[in-house]
Amino acid sequence: MPAPRTVLLTGAAGGLGTLMRELLPQYGYTLRLFDMRPVDGEPDAVVGDLADRDAVREAVRGVDAVVHLAGISLEASFDKILKANIEGTYNLYEAAREEGVRRMVFASSNHAVGYTPRPQGDDPLIPVDTPRRPDTFYGLSKCFGEDLAQLYWDKHGVETVSVRIGSCFPEPTSVRMLSVWMSPADGARLFHAALTAEGVGHTVVYGSSANTRLWWDLRSARALGYEPRDDSEVFAEKLIAEQGELSSSDPSHAHLGGHFVTNPPIWPH
Ligand SMILES: NC(=O)c1ccc[n+]([C@@H]2O[C@H](COP(=O)([O-])OP(=O)(O)OC[C@H]3O[C@@H](n4cnc5c(N)ncnc54)[C@H](O)[C@@H]3O)[C@@H](O)[C@H]2O)c1
Repeated sequence: MPAPRTVLLTGAAGGLGTLMRELLPQYGYTLRLFDMRPVDGEPDAVVGDLADRDAVREAVRGVDAVVHLAGISLEASFDKILKANIEGTYNLYEAAREEGVRRMVFASSNHAVGYTPRPQGDDPLIPVDTPRRPDTFYGLSKCFGEDLAQLYWDKHGVETVSVRIGSCFPEPTSVRMLSVWMSPADGARLFHAALTAEGVGHTVVYGSSANTRLWWDLRSARALGYEPRDDSEVFAEKLIAEQGELSSSDPSHAHLGGHFVTNPPIWPH
């Protein structure tokens, strides 16, 4: 497969989309931006809803690959998750199939495995094939997206790298994030690897930096050519002084998904 040049970035107005539309062009991509909200400073961005099949098909037409970030990014009612994350992702894959797009990068989440107990002490890193244990309807929609990606590879030859992103922000803001943080620069490195690696079929990877306190196994990401360069440990002293170490008596510290397993099951969205 020739390296993709033109990439549709869905969710371009969001937090991660804003970081990636700054960083991905450095790898030589021309981005087409798509979001239901206008994208600041980007008058050419396509404003459209994943629910609108015609708009989605039009957005996909002529691109070499898609980085799919759009959707509800926290817990919400099942009806809202169904529309944006489940039907919306289906609409996008169907449009990709119809338009002959061969490579997708899907923003999955650690919340697809959020009920997995967090490793402690000398426990092994969580493998990428650990049984899925979604912690929310949101996490469940990421499990759906991964299975949809598998189906479109097996049945239609559309390749996907599903990236179970930890937390991609300029800096970690909690002690939990010391384990799951992905620096924006490493995020761009990983998306670039996911766009260009040969023969990925459907590959699931965890998305994080090379953190000293890492909880999961990055081997499937490294196999794509991803070489993380950052480590959250430089933020550890400050965050632990402010917040303390993760307490074993706090239920929101017991699982990979953190407070998603314990907080009110529906957040307003
Ligand atoms: N940021 C992270 O650390 C993180 C961690 C794990 C997974 N993810 C996933 O990465 C993606 C981006 O995350 P984010 O933090 O930028 O989220 P965000 O909420 O900031 O951005 C999501 C964007 O999607 C758009 N959107 C929502 N529904 C849409 C629809 N129906 N049609 C078109 N656009 C729609 C929103 O307008 C928004 O701009 C999400 O899929 C999220 O689940 C992010």
